[in-house]
Amino acid sequence: MAPQKMEKLVSHADDHEGTRRDFLYYATGGAGAVAAGAAVWPLVNQMNPSADVQALSSIRVPVDGLEPGGQLTVKWLGKPVFIRRRTEEEIAEARSVELSELPDPVARNANAPDGADATDENRAMDENGEWLVQMGVCTHLGCVPLGAAQGNTGEFGGWFCPCHGSHYDLSGRIRKGPAPENLPVPPARFDDETTIVLG
Ligand code: FES
Repeated sequence: MAPQKMEKLVSHADDHEGTRRDFLYYATGGAGAVAAGAAVWPLVNQMNPSADVQALSSIRVPVDGLEPGGQLTVKWLGKPVFIRRRTEEEIAEARSVELSELPDPVARNANAPDGADATDENRAMDENGEWLVQMGVCTHLGCVPLGAAQGNTGEFGGWFCPCHGSHYDLSGRIRKGPAPENLPVPPARFDDETTIVLG
């Protein structure tokens, strides 16, 4: 599908779903009332994406406005996707973790070979690890984890799911709590230097 066509579809979906327009937001570190409203994403919404959302099997996301340390949340196939541009310190911390420390040792990355281990290198989009793209859906029962923008990164500096207390690290890997798996990495690629394609 041509890029322009897809952008039109995205705008249409946003217009159509007025109550969800706030779902597309930048979270660059400050507390956000908008983000708080998206903290709990009812499971029923994930199970029943509207018809126009289902049609968006592939979307283009401009990321040129995202600064290191910031996160963009977009909706894809009816679910939130976190696009995080990590700082050098965050990358270093994520890469210092030993596999033996991980409750779920599998990468859960649709772009990596089946069964790849959960090293940060196997989860990040790029070799340098600056870009991390993952579903913003807790693998326990489907809440949307909080992050730096909400002032709660959990005990491992990444994301925290307040529903039942799951802590994810800076690579989106589950480290503590009832969630059984790392946050899944969806099919994603760079179309050019400033555009990520999901799907
Ligand atoms: S849904 Fe996230 S911990 Fe239960």
